[in-house]
This record gives sequence, structure tokens and C-alpha cells, in this order.
Amino acid sequence: MTTESVSPPADPADSTGLGEIQRDAGRVDVADKAMINSRADVNQLLPLKYTWAWDKYLAGCNNHWMPTEVAMQADIALWKSRDGLTEDERLMLKRNLGFFATAESLVANNIVLAVYRHLTNPECRQYLLRQAFEEAVHTHTFQYICESLGLDEGELFNMYREIPSITEKDAWALRYTQNLEDPDFQTGTQEADQAFLRDLVAFYVIFEGMWFYTGFAQILSLGRRNKMIGIAEQYQYILRDESIHLNFGIDVINQIKIENPHLWTAEFQAEIRTMLTEACALEIAYGRETMPRGILGLNAELCEQYMHFITDRRAEQIGLAPIFGAAENPFPWMSEMMDLTKEKNFFETRVIEYQTGGGLDWD
Ligand SMILES: [Fe+2]
Ligand SMILES: [Fe+2]
Repeated sequence: MTTESVSPPADPADSTGLGEIQRDAGRVDVADKAMINSRADVNQLLPLKYTWAWDKYLAGCNNHWMPTEVAMQADIALWKSRDGLTEDERLMLKRNLGFFATAESLVANNIVLAVYRHLTNPECRQYLLRQAFEEAVHTHTFQYICESLGLDEGELFNMYREIPSITEKDAWALRYTQNLEDPDFQTGTQEADQAFLRDLVAFYVIFEGMWFYTGFAQILSLGRRNKMIGIAEQYQYILRDESIHLNFGIDVINQIKIENPHLWTAEFQAEIRTMLTEACALEIAYGRETMPRGILGLNAELCEQYMHFITDRRAEQIGLAPIFGAAENPFPWMSEMMDLTKEKNFFETRVIEYQTGGGLDWD
């Protein structure tokens, strides 16, 4: 532990908010609030320090939606018709749904069981509670799609064990949350605080910020050709939610860096760049396994270019130099997909207009 490290509370229970009530403690001073290893009472939301976290909580609430409000009749008819979709489109769709069906639970479990406990700030925890609910809505979406289309639930929910490129991605990310799973794990040392940062990068920047994006592009590309428009609309809402999750994660990482510059060593930065490079390769393999022959307008090569572009963007967002120098986005239409104002509601599967939160330029 370097001298710059903040000492964690003497009683680990104080950082959870479930320790003994400190009857004679002074009132919370906003200057005492910190992202990790805070000594300020985590049960007191006010005074607010990190308004960006509170704003994302409000934006998430403004974007509320439920999958069951999206009409699925057109999707069901197309899925059941003999020649509505090509075999390549069916394979892509099933493997795409199979990845997301369990990915949403992995992300939710990481938030609730690993991140929440160690993020010692109440406004960030308020956002995590909102995000956890959104992940439940996303898992609900895959249950609803499975039921609507009459898919084999065992096949769908076991793809993360049975389709190698999905298993590889999930197993890679789980290594980082497993580091935190030890019941004795506690932040407050250089080593532990870096392990926590690695988990944030693995789940927020990589899982939600890179590995969801091939899947979004695949389904939204089908939707642009008027195929599976109900699922495509649900993916638009998931993409909008996920863009806030990603941006919250990036703000958390950058704020921890500001408060704990000793964690962001040259060696650690090199390690994070290696993580991004490995994650990009895993996603490219997933693109190949979901689209071995490509579909109309989309193939594994384009997804590879797209993932290079996304990887560089994520590196930049956490203050690292680009890895691939990929300046060109092969799917510029993806940014339109995040804009869900009424006149631009692309797939028009229903009459309800969902309010949009701020930050629609996020990608
Ligand atoms: Fe999600
Ligand atoms: Fe998410």
C-alpha cells in the first residue's frame, strides 16, 4: 500500500452502510464523500457530490419501458413462416438471443454482488439500484421473446455453456468478478483497489460497452430490413439503457482515477490495454460464430472493423491511446438507433411514446 492510499473504515461494515449507528459522529461534509474507501456515511444521499451519477439515475427513470408493451405479432408470423428468414438469419438470431439471455444476468449479478458493496458513495449506489432493475427488465425481454416465438428455453439459456465464443467471453469476464468474490476481499490497498478497477473495466467498458455492440448491430440491421421489428425495437430500448450504463461506468472509473491517481500506473494502463485487445478478439470470434456466412448487409468482417472502432473509442473514453487506429465506423446508422423521439421511432410497432432522457448522443 502506498502512502497515498486512503485508509478504509476500521470496521468494513461501515462501508456497507449496515454497521452500528455512530450516534456521536459529525454530520456528513460533502468533501468527505469519495468513490471508494469513503469514511462518510453511505446511508446519507444528501449533500450530493457527484451530480453526474444523480443525473444518470434520473435519465434512467425517464427511459422506463417494459418489453411486454412491444407488439410481437409481426415477429411471430415471420419466425413461423417457412421462408420469412434465411437459415443464416435464424442462426444469427438464435445465437444473438442466446448470448444476451444470460449476459444480462451476469451483469446484474456483478453489480449487486461485487460492485455495489465497494462503491462507497450513495448517489452512485442510487444509480446502481436503477441499473440493476433495468438489467432485470432486459432479462425479462429475453424471457418474453423466448415465450413469444416459442423458442427452446433450454437451448437459449444454455448457449453460454454450449456455444464456444459465448462461453469464452463470459468466462473471461467472470475471472474479474471472481477476484472480488472472496468474502474477505476489501478495498483500501493498491492491489485490491486495482482489482476493483479491473472488474469495472471488464463489466462496464468491455461487457456492456463492447460485447453488446455486435449483437445490437445484428438485430438493428435486421430491423432496418423490416425483419423482426418487435425484437429490434426492444433492442433499441436496451441500447439506450446500455449507453447510460456504459457512460456511468466510464465516469466511475475516471472519477476513481482522479481521486486515486496512484492506482493508474503505466503498468496498470498497459494491463488495461491488453484487456481491451483480448476482449476485442473474443468479440470478433463471436461475430464469426454468429454469422459464419454473413447475412444481407452484414458480415463478420464488417463487425470486426466495427469492433476495432468501438475498442478505440472505449480506450479514449478512459484516457488511453487508441489500440487499432480505426477511425472509421462502418455502421454510422447505429447512432440514429439511439434517438428514440417519436418522429424517429424507427420500427413504429406501437403507439406509446416513451420519453427520452438526456444524452442521446452517447455511443
Ligand atoms: Fe442490460
Ligand atoms: Fe447494462
